[in-house]
Amino acid sequence: MAGGGFATAPANGVEFEAKITPIVIISCIMAATGGLMFGYDVGVSGGVTSMPDFLKKFFPVVHRKVEAGADKNSNYCKYDNQGLQLFTSSLYLAGLTATFFASYTTRTLGRRPTMLIAGVFFIIGVVLNAAAQDLAMLIAGRILLGCGVGFANQAVPLFLSEIAPTKIRGGLNILFQLNVTIGILFANLVNYGTAKIKGGWGWRLSLGLAGVPALLLTVGALLVTETPNSLVERGRLDEGKAVLRKIRGTDNVEPEFADLLEASRLAKEVKHPFRNLLQRRNRPQLVIAVALQIFQQCTGINAIMFYAPVLFSTLGFGNDAALYSAVVTGAVNVLSTLVSIYSVDKVGRRVLLLEAGVQMFFSQVVIAIILGIKVTDHSQNLSKGFAILVVVMICTYVAAFAWSWGPLGWLIPSETFPLETRSAGQSVTVCVNLLFTFIIAQAFLSMLCHFKFGIFIFFSSWVLVMSFFVMFLLPETKNIPIEEMTERVWKKHWFWARFMDDHHDDQVFASGHVNGKKSNGKSNGFDPSTRL
Ligand code: BGC
Repeated sequence: MAGGGFATAPANGVEFEAKITPIVIISCIMAATGGLMFGYDVGVSGGVTSMPDFLKKFFPVVHRKVEAGADKNSNYCKYDNQGLQLFTSSLYLAGLTATFFASYTTRTLGRRPTMLIAGVFFIIGVVLNAAAQDLAMLIAGRILLGCGVGFANQAVPLFLSEIAPTKIRGGLNILFQLNVTIGILFANLVNYGTAKIKGGWGWRLSLGLAGVPALLLTVGALLVTETPNSLVERGRLDEGKAVLRKIRGTDNVEPEFADLLEASRLAKEVKHPFRNLLQRRNRPQLVIAVALQIFQQCTGINAIMFYAPVLFSTLGFGNDAALYSAVVTGAVNVLSTLVSIYSVDKVGRRVLLLEAGVQMFFSQVVIAIILGIKVTDHSQNLSKGFAILVVVMICTYVAAFAWSWGPLGWLIPSETFPLETRSAGQSVTVCVNLLFTFIIAQAFLSMLCHFKFGIFIFFSSWVLVMSFFVMFLLPETKNIPIEEMTERVWKKHWFWARFMDDHHDDQVFASGHVNGKKSNGKSNGFDPSTRL
């Protein structure tokens, strides 16, 4: 999370006194709306772009190709159109850009105003989209939604990690991801319903219903209080302490407040976080964080999340069946994320990632073989049995992603960066993720047109590469306290240990020494539950 303050964890393993107050409950609802909003935007575009009325109005060229059928155009190329892809991808490009501004407002204005800015962007974006008269208005709406995503994904997880008591903080990381998947499913369900509306305005309802999580986020931001961490970071110490008392539901907040002051002091001492990030001893975490983001997107997941209905219709499913199948994959995504929440601290990160690697590789190869045999450029004879098999294989693939790369792609970077680079490291993580999300959104339909069924071989090759990366280069971080990563993980790793030998860097040492003073690693850790 860029430029953010530092959330506190219990000093010396002692729990601070804290009740689950109404403010904390509202915070959890905020997590839900921030994640839901993002997920809704991810999920809604695919269904909308497969609706004939939407295509007729904004992309008549594509509409004509789809209507003409496979006689004139290749099955695989029906939807290949840069403008159509831009409708989906522009959101991520805007989100990427907005992250830089959001990093600044989160630090200087606070978390709450940043969430409000996000809410306002979302609301205007939704209005423009639902009322769109032409392509320009439609894309402008998507860009504003993207700005909302940039601001919300920056501020909401940080806000949560700072406001929640330590004991429920860890779970919020995957909870955010769970809400993203629920948002996607919700969008798929809405699309399934609105596609049946006669009169050609169903797509407006689909895009307009994003207003529900957008409004909730805005109202939520108005209701909640600023975090004590942010107030302290901006020198408003008395206010910070008063807020801490209020949210913890007790007057006994001195130990936590002292911890918070120390964390803020240390955060200010890190003068050049981005330069720090590039130092040799921080290389393992940086390489892993960047690689995980690239790999997460190269699994091909968003080809499915963004374009499932279009993909199913490309394969010859009727419009209704295509949307219905997208609902099924969306539901599998939600349920499998629950599996991850349950098992990540039991079986560990590596087991989940490696098992999922095998499962994703297998299902993608099977899909490629079925399509290679059954769907050619100008004919598709996918019988009912094969069509069901394709859907089952896509679900097998989505399930594997949802209990591995989906949540862990975010969790692992957030728990491996040391204090000195955590905030800058999280910024880089978000940016690389959104950049590759943008690339997949912009390129998938063209790639489908050129690679045909081979697109699944392309993604499965990536799955092979990333599985080898996990096997050899990703250490297990299950149950390892964040401040002990250097000693217990990096220094013991066959490859990464070589980066741990120089200790003459200038600012904060990886061991937790700050300018010669031993810092309390535990009490000053930026919370691992901060997702973005
Ligand atoms: C990814 C998103 C993806 C979602 C699917 C997230 O972890 O970052 O790009 O759409 O999972 O559930």
